[in-house]
Amino acid sequence: MRVSGMLHLLAFIFALVATWIFISSYISFNMKTLRLPRWLADLDSQAIPVVRTKCGLSKPCPDNFFAFKISSGAANIVGPTMCFENLVIMSPVKNNVGRGLNIALVNGTTGIVLTQKCFDMYSGDVKLLVKFLKDIPEGTLVLMASYDDPGTKMNDETRKLLSSLGSSYANQLGFRDSWVFLGAKDLKDKSPFEQFLKNNPDSNKYEGWPELLELEGCVPQKVF
Ligand SMILES: *[C@@H]1O[C@H](CO)[C@@H](O)[C@H](O)[C@H]1NC(C)=O
Repeated sequence: MRVSGMLHLLAFIFALVATWIFISSYISFNMKTLRLPRWLADLDSQAIPVVRTKCGLSKPCPDNFFAFKISSGAANIVGPTMCFENLVIMSPVKNNVGRGLNIALVNGTTGIVLTQKCFDMYSGDVKLLVKFLKDIPEGTLVLMASYDDPGTKMNDETRKLLSSLGSSYANQLGFRDSWVFLGAKDLKDKSPFEQFLKNNPDSNKYEGWPELLELEGCVPQKVF
């Protein structure tokens, strides 16, 4: 009697558990199907593209092009950011930016980052920048972003070197201007990738500084 009673109890518990599992899976199934009507769910999955563009560009780059995005610093508060082929190479979070001129060098064939450096253009030694620019190897992409003040220590030699990388605005670069630029060591023409805003108290977005600048694009991979 005790054994059969035990079996009854076990059978009852088993039935209870089986029912619970059945009901709970049925409910969760229902909740899933109820969450969104099918047509709305389809719309939803279309609205959020699965493939994000490299560096968050507005449209993807063609094959054999490198994607890049450069933001200058905002006043003297937020440092600049540089992204290349979906890799953030300089940023405040990476803690490798500073006030002055922020420069990253990338191999124009492989897209591999060679170096990144910041030059203090307010109180630093401009000879360091001159040497750095002269030593850039052929076929190297040069990314630049201003932060706070990229211009005070600029001299003719530096301006000439920056112009030879394809810059159109290096000649005017001065105290607290905003500037973003991508050029290359052996560029014969002017680079199409450049933005410049002069520090002007009448039009400045911030009290002592112009607005920050953003530059994005696709730069052709150099094939030798
Ligand atoms: C860039 O990469 C190519 C291929 O690896 C190499 O031949 C070239 O020397 C590199 N250039 C620089 C400047 O590093």
